Amino acid sequence: PRGLEIAAMPDTSYPFPSSGPSGSPVLTTTAGAPVADNQNSVTAGARGPILLQDYQLIEKLAHQNRERIPERVVHAKGSGAFGTFTVTADISRYTRAGIFSRIGKSTDVLLRFSTVAGERGAADAERDVRGFALKFYTDEGNWDLVGNNTPVFFIRDPMKFPDFIRTQKRHPRTNLRSPTAMWDFWSLSPESLHQVAILFSDRGLPQGYRFMNGYGSHTYSFWNDAGERFWVKFHFKSLQGIRTWTNEEANEVIAQDRESAQRDLYEAIEKGDFPRWRVCVQIMPEAEANSTPYNPFDLTKVWPHADYPLIDVGVLELNRNPAHYFAEIEQASFSPSNIVPGIGFSPDKVLQGRLFAYADAHRYRVGTHYEALPVNAPKCPVHHYHADGAMRFDAPQGTDAYYEPNSFHGPVQDRTAQEPPLRISGDADRYNHRDGNDDYTQPAALFRMFTAEQKERFYRNIAGAMQGVPGFIIARQLEHFRRADPEWADGVKRALGDAYQEPESAPTNAEART
Ligand code: NDP
Ligand code: HEM
Repeated sequence: PRGLEIAAMPDTSYPFPSSGPSGSPVLTTTAGAPVADNQNSVTAGARGPILLQDYQLIEKLAHQNRERIPERVVHAKGSGAFGTFTVTADISRYTRAGIFSRIGKSTDVLLRFSTVAGERGAADAERDVRGFALKFYTDEGNWDLVGNNTPVFFIRDPMKFPDFIRTQKRHPRTNLRSPTAMWDFWSLSPESLHQVAILFSDRGLPQGYRFMNGYGSHTYSFWNDAGERFWVKFHFKSLQGIRTWTNEEANEVIAQDRESAQRDLYEAIEKGDFPRWRVCVQIMPEAEANSTPYNPFDLTKVWPHADYPLIDVGVLELNRNPAHYFAEIEQASFSPSNIVPGIGFSPDKVLQGRLFAYADAHRYRVGTHYEALPVNAPKCPVHHYHADGAMRFDAPQGTDAYYEPNSFHGPVQDRTAQEPPLRISGDADRYNHRDGNDDYTQPAALFRMFTAEQKERFYRNIAGAMQGVPGFIIARQLEHFRRADPEWADGVKRALGDAYQEPESAPTNAEART
């Protein structure tokens, strides 16, 4: 009979011990029952079809189907590590934030680096802005400083962000990146010039995440126990020094290794060569914001160091690689809306837009209770009344106090955590953010800092990125370069060579600034 035939067949399966060899635990189902065979599906006969009752098979396939969550809509490719922030100087006169309360105080951090435009499998050594996202697990809650390796950004109104990002991603028809879209948008958005200058300078292509600075970029605020407010910018200066690749070097790197930055960071930390950054702030008293020649809440501007010198605050060190990349880095959820008492926002419009965007992204990408995942959970007690929904994997105690106010000793508000009031004025309107804004002086200041060799590479980087872009768009962008510094426009024109034919009519001011 058939059953006997099967029994007579030689057993070619992997030998599976009933208890694990030398201390290995027994494999179980997610329900905890031991798995007898993890190599062979249950079939009707040796060659027969599989039975639906093989729950272990079904569970394995079903779990695999659910292994991905959507990648981040921007900054999809990244690397992260844990470490500490240690205070080295007293700034408690500016802020009551506990994290800065005493010299020597150390706070656990997570830092995720990223590129912006590429998908999760993109090569690391691409010319792009780098993300520099910090989560400080402070005693008073998580403070997320979600910055970049640049002190400024391409836009100054969040209304432009989805359009800008569209030009960085793939063209809907060709499914290719489009230099035409990029330069069309930039040339029609002169506020981008400062960030464009940084992107195509040497620093636009770091050798790895250890070799670049980080910036909070936005203006944030500090407030102290006396109720005084200060505007603040955050800087993280690499103690490894700045190291960059040329385009040609990066092409070589990518041909050998698409994960060059991940590898560099991971290996440095594994061998105990812990990367460090000097942490500094620039401080502006609240009232001075009315008298600076530039809008200090404009994300396309820096505060010149001569006016607002860097003040040392502490040292950031990364010293622990994640144990599980997906659990701790892919699921890490940063949001500029996570602040703690003593730190506040500012009127920066882009920051205001970001205060909405991130938590919204996390609820969609990770899930309703994403903040309870170990990597996102604060290391201080958490008491809130948000109740049900996907991933509610803790069981809150004290169930009589499940609304607020209540008479059952549920958590209550603490007015001492209230930020001092901020005076604002003006009519509600849609103000043209380009009116009267100087988009040229600061990019020109950067350009004039470059050495002759840096300028030559800068011209070539820009010209290389303009290949295939229609002449009228290049002409419009050259006009912006010319307004910053004629030498800049001439240099790019020279680097473009025959790739650029002067259009018959020069762009008008209106075209250049639309
Ligand atoms: P400073 O001479 O005091 O500072 C110049 C700054 O430029 C330094 O922080 C330096 O960083 C940085 N830098 C040097 N090369 C590059 C590059 N290729 N890309 C980006 N940054 C670079 O001058 P100001 O404060 O008056 O600023 C002048 C210009 O410098 C600004 O318009 C801005 O473009 C740029 N800058 C200014 C910053 C600020 O916060 N004031 C911050 C970063 C850039 P490092 O010290 O690490 O070498
Ligand atoms: C990631 C939106 C501007 C830095 C993201 C994500 C969104 C987003 C939706 C993905 C979040 C996720 O899924 O986890 C926006 C919007 C902006 C804006 C709407 C402007 C209106 C900026 C600026 C900076 C910045 C100005 C830096 C100064 C980052 C970083 C990440 C990120 C570093 C990756 C965070 C991580 O490592 O998980 N952004 N962004 N963004 N953004 Fe922005």
